[in-house]
Amino acid sequence: MNELYEFLTGPGAWVAFTVCIGGLIVRASALFGLSRERDKVFWNHADWKWALRSIYHWLLPLGSVSLRSQPVFGIAFYVFHVCVLATPLFLLAHNTLWYEAFRVSLPSFAESTTDVLTVVCIISALVLLFRRILRPEVRIMTSAWDYFLLILSILPFATGFLAYHQIGPYEPMLVLHILFAEVLLVVIPFSKLGHVLLFFFSRAAIGVEMGSRRGARTW
Ligand code: HEM
Ligand code: HEM
Repeated sequence: MNELYEFLTGPGAWVAFTVCIGGLIVRASALFGLSRERDKVFWNHADWKWALRSIYHWLLPLGSVSLRSQPVFGIAFYVFHVCVLATPLFLLAHNTLWYEAFRVSLPSFAESTTDVLTVVCIISALVLLFRRILRPEVRIMTSAWDYFLLILSILPFATGFLAYHQIGPYEPMLVLHILFAEVLLVVIPFSKLGHVLLFFFSRAAIGVEMGSRRGARTW
């Protein structure tokens, strides 16, 4: 178990972070290059004001018409995203590891705060999951892979929580936590989770297309 931990926190972590960040950069650059080549009309009309306005409104809670029209989903979606991003970044355990390795780290929330954020993240993800199962118009568009990605996104939260509270065997749980987290990082650039970066491009494109070309706002 110790060797597995050493491997996952050493070479495993390097590979996972490199594939995640490198993969996102390669994928975004390739799509950007393709678009410069194919979408000449779009680029003639590119207006950053409309692009930024669209991104800005979609980053606000219930900031778009489609999110406002389904407030339960809209709120669960927003809360889930705040927790999924803020918890691992401002978690004391993670920042201690960053500091030990590189002598740099982000500020950390109190452990009781990240604990609450973790539970809220899992609950909001369950709301998203049940929505996918219960609403026929969403279910019909959901593949097994979509369910897998939603569940994979919360597995590091569930196992991190269990490890922190020492529920179940501690060491295997911690190893499982790091393993799920690294699988998640590796899958991000090759799946629709690539939206962590691509969201900004697609929102900008839709904002320009609807705004500066057709004169209609997207929120
Ligand atoms: C910059 C950060 C991010 C932005 C702007 C963003 C934005 C979005 C948007 C616009 C959607 C589509 C919602 C819809 O169905 O209408 C979405 C869905 C989703 N996002 Fe993100 N996201 C971000 C980061 C993340 C991260 C870090 C994860 C997890 C690792 C994640 C996991 C998901 C999942 C699982 C869904 C599907 C939810 C469902 O099944 O209904 N996102 N995100
Ligand atoms: C790949 C590198 C990662 C390593 C080495 C790592 C390591 C750790 C460690 C050592 C803990 C503390 C367990 C304890 O207190 O004994 C922890 C907790 C946690 N981690 Fe990670 N982690 C990683 C990635 C992630 C990712 C990518 C996420 C989320 C997407 C995540 C979410 C969490 C959460 C939510 C907790 C527990 C919060 C709580 O209830 O206190 N971790 N992690």
